[in-house]
Amino acid sequence: MLIRNPRGWELPEREATPEALVLGRRTVLKAAAGIAAAGSLAWPEAAGAADLPAVMRNPRYRPERDITAEREATTYNNYYEFGSQKTISQAAQRLPLRPWTLRVDGMVDQPRDFALEDLLRQVQLEERLYRLRCVEAWSMVVPWTGFMLSDLLKLVGPQGSAKYVRFETAAIQGVMPGLRQSWYPWPYIEGCTIEEAANELSFMVVGAYGKPLPPQNGGPIRFHQPWKYGFKAGKSLVRMTLTDQRPKTFWEQIQPAEYGFWANVNPEVPHPRWSQASERVLGSRERVPTRLFNGYGEFVANLYTGLQRERLWT
Ligand code: MTE
Repeated sequence: MLIRNPRGWELPEREATPEALVLGRRTVLKAAAGIAAAGSLAWPEAAGAADLPAVMRNPRYRPERDITAEREATTYNNYYEFGSQKTISQAAQRLPLRPWTLRVDGMVDQPRDFALEDLLRQVQLEERLYRLRCVEAWSMVVPWTGFMLSDLLKLVGPQGSAKYVRFETAAIQGVMPGLRQSWYPWPYIEGCTIEEAANELSFMVVGAYGKPLPPQNGGPIRFHQPWKYGFKAGKSLVRMTLTDQRPKTFWEQIQPAEYGFWANVNPEVPHPRWSQASERVLGSRERVPTRLFNGYGEFVANLYTGLQRERLWT
């Protein structure tokens, strides 16, 4: 086995997707060298910023749809710091991905500044095929590489008083032209409850399609909760703060009636300006029905019992 602490769901190595199909051969060789040196799967010392170690695909999360072409997912983006149109992938290449520090602070026993490489040596990386449903009614399926948010929280020791996680994303003047649009409440803030953060689906993403996460998709590190609309998935994270105050999120500050705190996917609750009943599959002309919790209800529906009075669906 390549992975140090196998979880119950992990496939024997022979049944896993061959890494060479997921990663380039050079990356696999480098990763193998790193594994040999470290004696376990970890972020290879030898690897540079542009490499990811070989990871296994977690078969527990089945997207039930084709994987979106890499070119589609990496050239049709929402990243307002680089502009409000979808074609920001070139402009986003100016974002310097290394060195990168993620601060985790607030109501934790051990607030820490993690250099990204150090952090990645302390967590268990895996690949997950997740659907992403944008509030604009398009969707995609991406093979993300990452680790569970709960793994990160264990490293800092959440205190009992913490009720929410506040996510803050990069805002770099001179690199991100969108910041000149001063009517937006930069930086981009998102948030979730501690219970949502602890859910097994809450995923910190550092790669896509077997490669390091490109800047236009939120490199070097973003967040993803696949049962929520995509705007909850803060890109290029610089800080996560555990707090007892519900974070006022970026889109909520702009348009609270349209983009709320919870933003769970629900086909029966239309956006004030359009239906959410179906979605356009990125890269095709196909429209498919949207599913409650984006199809992840079996994992997350129990998070919301007793919260019926909240606006859970916008
Ligand atoms: N994060 C930041 N910092 N800035 C953004 O504009 N857009 C969000 C989310 N995260 C956004 C962001 C929205 S609206 C969506 S749908 C997803 O990123 C899109 O992710 P993708 O470009 O990888 O498809």
